[in-house]
Amino acid sequence: MARKRFFSSLDAALLATQFLCVVAKPWIRSTASSILSAPNHLVPDYVTKYAPLVWLHSDDPFRPSDLLEHIRHTTPAVNYSLVPDLPELNLDNLALLENISSERVALTSNDDVTTLPAWLYGHSPDEAGRIANATPCVVILVEQSARDVDAFFFYFYSYDRGANITQVVEPLNRLIEDTEHGMHFGDHVGDWEHNMIRFRDGKPTGIYYSQHAGGAAYEWNDNTLSMKSGRPLVFSAYGSHANYATSGDHIHDSALIDYCDAGKLWDPALSAYFYHLDPASFKLTRLFTSISNTTVASNMTSFFYYTGIWGDAQYPDSDDRQKTVPKFGLKRFVSGPQGPIVKNLVRKGLMPDEREKITWMQWGVGIFMSWYPCCIRGYRVWVSVAVIIGFIILTVFGVRHGVKKYRRTKGYQKVDTEIPLRDMNHGEDDAGLHRNQSD
Ligand SMILES: *[C@@H]1O[C@H](CO)[C@@H](O)[C@H](O)[C@H]1NC(C)=O
Ligand SMILES: *[C@@H]1O[C@H](CO)[C@@H](O)[C@H](O)[C@H]1NC(C)=O
Ligand SMILES: *[C@@H]1O[C@H](CO)[C@@H](O)[C@H](O)[C@H]1NC(C)=O
Ligand SMILES: *[C@@H]1O[C@H](CO)[C@@H](O)[C@H](O)[C@H]1NC(C)=O
Ligand SMILES: *[C@@H]1O[C@H](CO)[C@@H](O)[C@H](O)[C@H]1NC(C)=O
Repeated sequence: MARKRFFSSLDAALLATQFLCVVAKPWIRSTASSILSAPNHLVPDYVTKYAPLVWLHSDDPFRPSDLLEHIRHTTPAVNYSLVPDLPELNLDNLALLENISSERVALTSNDDVTTLPAWLYGHSPDEAGRIANATPCVVILVEQSARDVDAFFFYFYSYDRGANITQVVEPLNRLIEDTEHGMHFGDHVGDWEHNMIRFRDGKPTGIYYSQHAGGAAYEWNDNTLSMKSGRPLVFSAYGSHANYATSGDHIHDSALIDYCDAGKLWDPALSAYFYHLDPASFKLTRLFTSISNTTVASNMTSFFYYTGIWGDAQYPDSDDRQKTVPKFGLKRFVSGPQGPIVKNLVRKGLMPDEREKITWMQWGVGIFMSWYPCCIRGYRVWVSVAVIIGFIILTVFGVRHGVKKYRRTKGYQKVDTEIPLRDMNHGEDDAGLHRNQSD
């Protein structure tokens, strides 16, 4: 603490700070934070001024959810067994779960989720866009340098309902057998989505939108973005809550459709926890939007360090609630997600540094769908089949011709002469050896 104040006073002298930055070791640089050295740990104005506004889909029953309420309706489980003898969990002690097992902990619903208990539905914003009596948003400011700050806006929903047959694109929807009528697949308890806005000197330069396994990034002046009072609009997709810059239908993973519309406007920054994250030490510090809130009973940073998942682990096939889409192997229920700490908070670009891995099925579907319009759809498939058969025939003839030509030249001679000779020599040696041994 004393050291912190010492360096804060140095901050005032610009030259000294610049000198420090050049020669600093990481531990020195991490104390030279312009956000934390400001009085009262206030959130910089530009963060709320340019904060995203989220359009929730008009028909989406699954609204943003309060973090603590979610924790209260779940119980930690490891390998599907509830963990005994735990204290009551909250945002200020959740990281104690890091110490109870080397295996992944899952905050598992206390209710059978197929009955859709009320808490899964979250809360709707009021006319002003505020979700009262709930905090479904976490804002984390990653201070890369005194000039460069990445503001992550995390949105939490207690439930993600995946697509059903009506959200599968042509012609894959005809291949999927809708054995359980209208069943949704890829559903999970707990859903973390985010936007990231990159600031330089307090001015926004770009924004990232999370969408399923990936996302999209835009420069701030990109015409695709729409703004309201200078704030970027975000369209939260029906059921999945993937974030898009535009309204309407969006295809993801080559095969599934997300629906977006301007249903209900949510201003996440009005009900959020704010934090500063030091990229070097990963130390999280609570920030405040007004001076009246700066002394609190707890800083609520523990939940950030919990690396387990925020919902049930994928039910095994033996579980009555689990169902599988024939042929494609898609599961009705999959595991809940990990929290903000795994979302590549320290990034080079707007996009996460590493793409998430895709499965063979996703890869295959991607290839199929990229060829579909040109070469598979309707009559085109016969042209493609003819071309492929022609190609195979030509290849076979070509190879046979090549092999014959090769045999007629040196290839065959070698086989005829040299190898059998060596073989015979070997045979004689071996025979001699055996004779000696048997003597
Ligand atoms: C998980 O539990 C099952 C049965 O309850 C058991 O067979 C299996 O060995 C356990 N796995 C681990 C990794 O503990
Ligand atoms: C986990 O255990 C380590 C070592 O015993 C301890 O230092 C740490 O404080 C514990 N973390 C929590 C959140 O209880
Ligand atoms: C698919 O889900 C939607 C709700 O998302 C529902 O209205 C529709 O009936 C379902 N489709 C079928 C075929 O049941
Ligand atoms: C901050 O304090 C104001 C009143 O002083 C209160 O209305 C508001 O709910 C507080 N916000 C948080 C996040 O605690
Ligand atoms: C919250 O964090 C601040 C520093 O970031 C610290 O001074 C304060 O004591 C903490 N409050 C509690 C209740 O832990």
